[in-house]
Amino acid sequence: MRKSMSLHYNDMMKTYTLPGTADKETVVQKMFTSAAKAYDINNTVLSFGLHHHWKRLAIGLLGVEPGHVVLDLCGGTADLSLLAARKAEKNGKVLTVDLNFAMLKVGKEKLEGVPSPDRADIDVVQCNAETLSFRDGSVDRLVVGFGLRNVSRLEMALAEIHRVLKPGGRFVCLEFSTPTNALWRQLYRLYSFFILPWIGKVVSGDRTGIYEYLPASIARFPDQERFREIILKAGFREVSYRNLSGGIVALHIGVK
Ligand SMILES: C[S@@+](CC[C@H](N)C(=O)[O-])C[C@H]1O[C@@H](n2cnc3c(N)ncnc32)[C@H](O)[C@@H]1O
Repeated sequence: MRKSMSLHYNDMMKTYTLPGTADKETVVQKMFTSAAKAYDINNTVLSFGLHHHWKRLAIGLLGVEPGHVVLDLCGGTADLSLLAARKAEKNGKVLTVDLNFAMLKVGKEKLEGVPSPDRADIDVVQCNAETLSFRDGSVDRLVVGFGLRNVSRLEMALAEIHRVLKPGGRFVCLEFSTPTNALWRQLYRLYSFFILPWIGKVVSGDRTGIYEYLPASIARFPDQERFREIILKAGFREVSYRNLSGGIVALHIGVK
């Protein structure tokens, strides 16, 4: 039983070819431009609402204090920015940084609809995570949610994250990962390779393949331990991680 499930899964993986480093940015950006309008609703449907819970935990671990400058990298539709802005309070500052104009536009419209008496101002900035346009040591906290899996050069993005953080500044990465229990892993893979792409397409009408790219890119991304090593190699200290929902998602934390 286990053998045939795993063969089936491998067969499925072969049907979607992930883009190589050279064309990844173009392919990924085209997908997010197409998915932007339905991105929030799809996130909620496909994760059964869990992404809100994961994001609250990420911001809890980030340790934002009043007055902090917080960068929400690959911030898309600004969910994490809004949570961070409440913690940074009136005298803080939050930057939602993303390469994709359509995602930022949805985020900006959402921010305009949310009352802001007690939260930090949020600016949206179109910028590549691999070449950030911020000064060295200018940011107190940096969070990235479901973003680093999508950049073309992971090590370059991590080097930029390290560069823009102040010494002692904290970095939290929320990303899909590898479920730790074998049965849970198989069930999750069946869901993500067979059911998720179908629901994703129905809800968003997407034709770019983003919901086939999603499980394939998750399967390719380094597991919890490997990713911890990569973050350490980028110069961070006190790097640890916490599994959420049995390891479907992991929160990695590091300090500059
Ligand atoms: C899955 S969405 C995550 C959005 C948001 N952080 C969230 O958790 O809902 C990934 C985002 O990463 C952005 N992205 C991908 N590659 C990027 C890059 N090289 N630089 C900046 N943003 C990038 C995409 O445009 C997209 O908005």
